[in-house]
Amino acid sequence: MNATKTIGIIGGGQLGLMIAEQAHLLGARVVCLDPAADAPAFAVCDDRIVGRFDDPQAVEELCRRADVVTYEFENVPGDILIPLVERYNIPQGYRPLYDSQDRLREKDNARNNGLLTPRYAAVDDEASLRAAVSSLGLPAVLKTRTLGYDGHGQAVLRSEEDILRALPMLTVPCILEEFVPFDFEASIVMVSDGRQVVSFPVGRNVHRDGILDLCFVPAEMSDELLGRMKQLSAEFMRRCGYEGILAIEYFVRDGEFYFNEMAPRPHNSGHYTIEGCTTNQFRELVRYLLGMPLEEPRLVAPTVMKNILGQDLEEARRIAAEGHEGVYVHIYGKTESRPKRKMGHITFVGMTPERYEREWSDRFVR
Ligand SMILES: Nc1ncnc2c1ncn2[C@@H]1O[C@H](COP(=O)(O)OP(=O)(O)OP(=O)(O)O)[C@@H](O)[C@H]1O
Ligand SMILES: [Mg+2]
Repeated sequence: MNATKTIGIIGGGQLGLMIAEQAHLLGARVVCLDPAADAPAFAVCDDRIVGRFDDPQAVEELCRRADVVTYEFENVPGDILIPLVERYNIPQGYRPLYDSQDRLREKDNARNNGLLTPRYAAVDDEASLRAAVSSLGLPAVLKTRTLGYDGHGQAVLRSEEDILRALPMLTVPCILEEFVPFDFEASIVMVSDGRQVVSFPVGRNVHRDGILDLCFVPAEMSDELLGRMKQLSAEFMRRCGYEGILAIEYFVRDGEFYFNEMAPRPHNSGHYTIEGCTTNQFRELVRYLLGMPLEEPRLVAPTVMKNILGQDLEEARRIAAEGHEGVYVHIYGKTESRPKRKMGHITFVGMTPERYEREWSDRFVR
């Protein structure tokens, strides 16, 4: 066996924490970079750098201390990462970050590589907003092109008043998208080593206030639709030349699926894979980073994942203390709990949507 390898992770949130846990199981060390001294991943990593993602010295120091580097934070600036990609082992490269950091570029890229998207238009001022509204119609969704997450930087426009209220958003470049009255949302997580693309079972995602609330796996859809989603998603990854991990969020409507956004990092909707699949999204990312062959995941049993935001943290602790077979409570160890902050998640293995509704949904804040 070769000497122990060290994985460097840009970002020390819950995704970094779960990557680090799987890295340890596979015999690797971990060093994390995060601006917060109390970042969740610091509790389990072997070495830490407290520093900003836009501090070139901090990011380079992480690269120096690692054999291979990945990111769990999407907004690492290109002028910092691009020069480092040439000199250090960052096998996913900068490209998937670049392509996903701007919603306009992201959707153009999806269309150019075989995926359908909702209709959209770039919006920079009131005139272009009004032009976009006339061509796309209302309702529509106005989003900032960069730095949005968990529904931040978004406004649904249904009326003239909504348009006027949204004008202050236009101090930064935006995109207007048609509002998709989807049947449901779904996401797929894939890992590629450049030869093989493995993908995790597709779940149905339910959002509340723009934040992921629940994933039901498997998503109920026809074999034909599922087959097409898996095939086109893998083809998209190949055509773009992406390696490592990629998650794509889709809107499903009338037997068709539309690209919403992608993330070149482990995805919240893939947390269920830790106990719900034979191998999980963090583990396959680590296998890729360590040059190990990928494993094709299989669903163990129908699974439900419930995100735990601040308002549900105490209830999650109670459920953990009670002890239920097949119920796995994850608490991320964030020192400050806030109502809409992701504090943990619970995975229910061997659980159907109907049984979850009946037996568990009442325990959480509606
Ligand atoms: N065009 C649209 N039509 C209908 N619903 C939409 C549209 N765009 C966004 N939404 C709703 O808002 C949610 C959040 O949007 P989106 O994924 O674009 O933003 P985000 O802030 O990057 O979210 P996250 O980072 O949590 O995935 C979507 O999952 C969906 O429920
Ligand atoms: Mg999203």
